Amino acid sequence: MVVASILKYSVVFLVISFHGFYAMNTSDAIKLGSSIQAGDKSSWISASGDFAFGFYHLPSSLFLVGIWFNKIPERTLVWSANRDDPARLGSTMNFTVDGQLLLIHPNGTRYSIYSGDAASSAGMNNDGNFVLSNPSSKFLWQSFDFPTDTVLPGQALVMGQKLFSNSNGTMDYSTGRFMLEIQQFDGNVVLSAYKFADPGYANNQYISLIFNQSTCYMYVINTTSIPG
Ligand SMILES: *[C@@H]1O[C@H](CO)[C@@H](O)[C@H](O)[C@H]1NC(C)=O
Ligand SMILES: *[C@@H]1O[C@H](CO)[C@@H](O)[C@H](O)[C@H]1NC(C)=O
Ligand SMILES: *[C@@H]1O[C@H](CO)[C@@H](O)[C@H](O)[C@H]1NC(C)=O
Ligand SMILES: *[C@@H]1O[C@H](CO)[C@@H](O)[C@H](O)[C@H]1NC(C)=O
Ligand SMILES: *[C@@H]1O[C@H](CO)[C@@H](O)[C@H](O)[C@H]1NC(C)=O
Repeated sequence: MVVASILKYSVVFLVISFHGFYAMNTSDAIKLGSSIQAGDKSSWISASGDFAFGFYHLPSSLFLVGIWFNKIPERTLVWSANRDDPARLGSTMNFTVDGQLLLIHPNGTRYSIYSGDAASSAGMNNDGNFVLSNPSSKFLWQSFDFPTDTVLPGQALVMGQKLFSNSNGTMDYSTGRFMLEIQQFDGNVVLSAYKFADPGYANNQYISLIFNQSTCYMYVINTTSIPG
């Protein structure tokens, strides 16, 4: 598998594979009423063992609900549900008896990862997609629909979807300054580096990676504007 990461600043932004598509079979289904607790090292693992879903321990000693590569020694997070609000020790993630997926903080606050029609099973698939299915195996929810900073082989990004880099490599997974977007209006892929405007500064810098669908050229442009 070829793993390419775009960008300087040690920001891991994209994982692209040019070959080696995975089989899509699901691991043993996760049953209604199952739960995982932050800090107890359990996770829901794909049949192949390549991916795990659970609480990912951050250097800060907080946890992200996420999916990581489980077979390589340096566990690499590829998706997270709560990148901007990490959970504390003692939080639980419940696949509730009524088919919802909840993160329950120790203070009792509930954060819904999925709420909707009752799911009947959950599964960590071999392609890195965590899915909730109904009794006829239709996906009601899948992590692939909510990409964070990484695209996996076989995962499609659709128009309007955006990826945001991490703030600081593997130290801080919160939403960072680089955005990759499949533009809704023309389908072009645009990578932008934002320097969020401090009220005291008049200029924004935009460095964009353009993939032009009609010409198939990919190029970087500097569209920095310096108003006034
Ligand atoms: C979540 O899971 C824990 C541990 O199994 C359980 O004690 C708790 O009642 C569950 N909460 C909900 C809302 O399902
Ligand atoms: C409970 O903790 C979570 C996670 O730290 C936080 O986002 C939330 O605001 C807290 N809720 C209350 C009511 O303090
Ligand atoms: C990123 O993390 C490294 C390692 O902890 C730290 O030295 C550095 O100051 C951090 N950078 C930012 C911008 O927070
Ligand atoms: C893509 O290429 C076409 C043909 O050269 C051009 O008309 C169009 O403006 C380009 N789009 C972008 C976003 O650069
Ligand atoms: C983009 O252009 C601006 C204005 O000319 C310049 O100040 C900035 O350094 C450029 N950025 C890069 C990354 O080349």
